[in-house]
Amino acid sequence: MKNENNRRDFLKKCSLSTVPFLLPTTGLNAMSFERTIDEVHTENQSPVNFIYDGFALAPHEYLKKLQEINNSKPIEPDVYGNGGDTKLIEEEFAKITGKEKAIYLPTGTMANQLAIKLLNENNTKVIVPENSHIFRDEADAAQSVHSIRLIPIGKGKPYFDIADLKSTIDYINNNEVFKSGLGTVVIENPVRRADGTFVPLDVIKDISTYCKENNYKMHLDGARIHIASAFNKTSLLEYASYFDTVYISLYKYLNATGGAMLCGDAKIIDQIAHQIKILGGTVFQNWNNTSMALHYLEGINERWDEVVMRSKNLITGLNELNGVSITGFKNGTNIYDLTLSNEISLKKLAVFLYNEHNIWLGRANDSGIVKFTVNESLLTRDNKNIIDAWKEGIEQARN
Ligand SMILES: Cc1ncc(COP(=O)(O)O)c(C=O)c1O
Repeated sequence: MKNENNRRDFLKKCSLSTVPFLLPTTGLNAMSFERTIDEVHTENQSPVNFIYDGFALAPHEYLKKLQEINNSKPIEPDVYGNGGDTKLIEEEFAKITGKEKAIYLPTGTMANQLAIKLLNENNTKVIVPENSHIFRDEADAAQSVHSIRLIPIGKGKPYFDIADLKSTIDYINNNEVFKSGLGTVVIENPVRRADGTFVPLDVIKDISTYCKENNYKMHLDGARIHIASAFNKTSLLEYASYFDTVYISLYKYLNATGGAMLCGDAKIIDQIAHQIKILGGTVFQNWNNTSMALHYLEGINERWDEVVMRSKNLITGLNELNGVSITGFKNGTNIYDLTLSNEISLKKLAVFLYNEHNIWLGRANDSGIVKFTVNESLLTRDNKNIIDAWKEGIEQARN
């Protein structure tokens, strides 16, 4: 029975990753492994996952964690987002971003959309990265709900730079009858559709200076800004200083089941609660997300410094194994390309690591590359233990 439960849990976790683009294109192909998960010896080891942004807590783990949090300091509930731990996390986010105020919203999509709507005032155009969540993954909300026309730039590149921005604005000014109408410029950092790579600070600075000079507002989709901060050694405070509003996710690196924070001037943030209600997004209680995120917010910078250091050592160690290649990206954060030589079966290795060591590996894409993602789960195990497990697994997985 226990094995059956664990097997189902495994399949469930792995099948999560088959959701296209909402999650990294990683994770095991659940069905093809179904018959091989016979024995599970790993109940006592917490998982090390090389798939997700965070711990990907199962419901029972989430409940246990909330209970622990509540035991150490009773969770204070909010009412319709007011008071309790929700208020505390709002204060904390205002502080770490250096903004006047911050507010909790049920989703990042809503945070992005409301930010650009309010920053844009009566303007109708917003410039966005072509590969961004706002442009590609928010169901045309800007156009259909907020009467905003999104203008995508930087197609085919990880990020756009000041030259791209200026030429787009020149083009609009020279080729459209109505000259006014551009109100806001958006940057996503790190860039989800570019393997989590970060936008270089100089690029952000140049764009920000130009936007200030020309009176354009700036919004940061910083859903995962904590990792750009860790890998590019730049504080949230500094990143946020180049933008009028900043959105940060509560479920990417803060392990909540959902939720978003939007930070900015009181003039903008004070309008948000009314807008959330208009969209039907005012939730009666939100402490299940905010108390979890508040818990993981404490000490996040120190923990991620450690993840950065340990992951570099780990990758060096794994690359020493015959047939394993793990490579990073220019401006990379926590995602790497893993390839195995032909004689090693990824499927056998992944099943072995899962069954024997509770280590989770993702599935390969069509080019045979696994997007190998490091996260805080790395801190629950010694690198040596992980490398030894791989050594053993690779021997078993040779065809
Ligand atoms: C870069 C980026 N922005 C915004 C969002 C939207 O977040 P939510 O799912 O809370 O709407 C996501 C979610 O995947 C994202 O990756």
